Amino acid sequence: MTEHDFIPKPYTIPNQSGKVAWESPSNIALVKYWGKKKNQIPENPSISFTLNSCKTITTVTFTPKEDTTDFSFEVYLDGLRKDDFKPKIQTFFERIESYLPFLRLFHFKIETQNTFPHSSGIASSASGMSALALCLMSIEKKMTNSDVIPSAVEESYFNKKASYLARLGSGSACRSIEGDVIVWGKTKSIVGSTDLYGVKYPYEVHDNYKQYQDTILLVDKGEKQVSSTVGHNLMHNHPFAQNRFNQAHDNMLKMKSILASGDLNAFIALIESEALTLHAMMMTSMPYFILMKPNTLEIINKIWAFRKKSGLHIGFTLDAGANVHVLYPKQESKNILEFIQNELVAYCKNGEYICDEIGFGANQLDF
Ligand code: PMV
Repeated sequence: MTEHDFIPKPYTIPNQSGKVAWESPSNIALVKYWGKKKNQIPENPSISFTLNSCKTITTVTFTPKEDTTDFSFEVYLDGLRKDDFKPKIQTFFERIESYLPFLRLFHFKIETQNTFPHSSGIASSASGMSALALCLMSIEKKMTNSDVIPSAVEESYFNKKASYLARLGSGSACRSIEGDVIVWGKTKSIVGSTDLYGVKYPYEVHDNYKQYQDTILLVDKGEKQVSSTVGHNLMHNHPFAQNRFNQAHDNMLKMKSILASGDLNAFIALIESEALTLHAMMMTSMPYFILMKPNTLEIINKIWAFRKKSGLHIGFTLDAGANVHVLYPKQESKNILEFIQNELVAYCKNGEYICDEIGFGANQLDF
């Protein structure tokens, strides 16, 4: 498919009001996306586990309006008006307008809430942008029929376009529409992979990864010093960029055999190397920056020591922040959770952590 497949044929937009709602999860990358080209095209492929409990729930109420010069919308988080969210949504609407021709003809009331604390430092952009993209897709579906656009009937087109739109809001959001393992970015080793949207991982995944656990240790809940937009841009002219992009392709190939064989030691080695490489890219950008905190390193060292001593399959990954995602198989969760509670929670801000696991994607909500 190409971009053009997501532009609908001209259609008559009905003058009707309505309301739609979706809940959409966050996701955690195993092979990381870091660096992008124009129009949110990733410089390298990535693969992620969709999460289950960390979700955004978004309701969009739409009412027709006369004046079509500008977009018109209001945004609420937990019932409180959030005008500071508006610039990001304005940019999102500008990027997706050609794919959703009704956007200027309606006023949108966007009400959103997260199942995790907003200030937790967990990226809410993946769940938030995917939930909003799905709501807009449901509005399109209400306005069209299958003569105009396949989304009126076909679930796979609906999901692809939702992922395509979500990507234009926040790159990693395109991996939150479905589960449980998602690939984004064209790479030789994964058939059907594309830079345009996330696709379900098309090969067999060993039972070892079923119900894989992700306990998120909230090390730092403050505002990030460097946004991921700035971080991605610093990969332009980065001295190690091309090697990193090549390595991500190699790691996708390695991950394919790791997911098939269920080799958890190899899995852990790969995800930890990916996490530290991501942060190494940040430390070797110009200007350079560090998002890990002293407690991030304390936790990593404790995990390594415990893994050595216990022989359990506990590993970590990091996103673009100080929090640590502790990943482990469900079968080993009793001992590992005990270790987390006894030894790692002390390094979390106010002792806060979130227990999540691999999930299966977004759901539409009824009223
Ligand atoms: O989607 P963005 O632009 O917030 O970038 C997210 C990048 C990482 O979380 C660091 C990696 C990834 O693949 O999710």
